[in-house]
Amino acid sequence: MPISDTTRDQLQELVARYPRPRSALMPMLHLVQSLEGEVTSEGIAACAEAAGVSAAEATAVASFYTMYKRKPVGKHHIGVCTNTMCGLLGGDEVYAAVSERLGVGHDEPTADGEFWLERIECQAACTHAPVMTVDWEYMDDVTPTSAVDVIDRLARGEEVRSTRGPVIRDFRASEHSLAFPEDGLAAEGTPVDEKMLVGLRLARELGMAAPDAPVAGTTNDAGQEG
Ligand code: FES
Repeated sequence: MPISDTTRDQLQELVARYPRPRSALMPMLHLVQSLEGEVTSEGIAACAEAAGVSAAEATAVASFYTMYKRKPVGKHHIGVCTNTMCGLLGGDEVYAAVSERLGVGHDEPTADGEFWLERIECQAACTHAPVMTVDWEYMDDVTPTSAVDVIDRLARGEEVRSTRGPVIRDFRASEHSLAFPEDGLAAEGTPVDEKMLVGLRLARELGMAAPDAPVAGTTNDAGQEG
């Protein structure tokens, strides 16, 4: 699909936010990914032109980061974390159950274009492991049963909310928010809860604090240069 003048204007809007145009490449790639649910060749060319880099350089960025897809993701992106903490607490079982429900494996779309499954890396949400994401919204403390239930409800077209509050929209809407987070949706819900703050509370109760960071040009107790 050709890139519209509106999208080209939005790319320029992103470029204007950074000291150097090429620094805007990542949000620009999210923006073009929001158009068709994948980063197309036309999208890469438009990003490269706006950033003042070659198409090969823009392609290098798009192919390095796994969040950029070169095939249509479909309506919903499902991520299941199987890194250390989630894996220890059942992430592999969640992944197996979701994979069986959808009938696809890692980085594959379902035939009806409704879902894309990805085995994802740590989402910095280990407090609530095992974690699943739907269009990059958190589903905390999932089990194989609750994860499959989320898929079933999405498939029936029912309203589904992240365990942190926001209503699940779709992959393309989330991609647009990653390009333009000021749409307000990124701040919806409750990003921090009591469980996440237990360590901080205990540290304060015990009078614990992080050691001072070494000053540049000095050495710390271990003899490492700052
Ligand atoms: S290991 Fe899964 S969120 Fe950190």
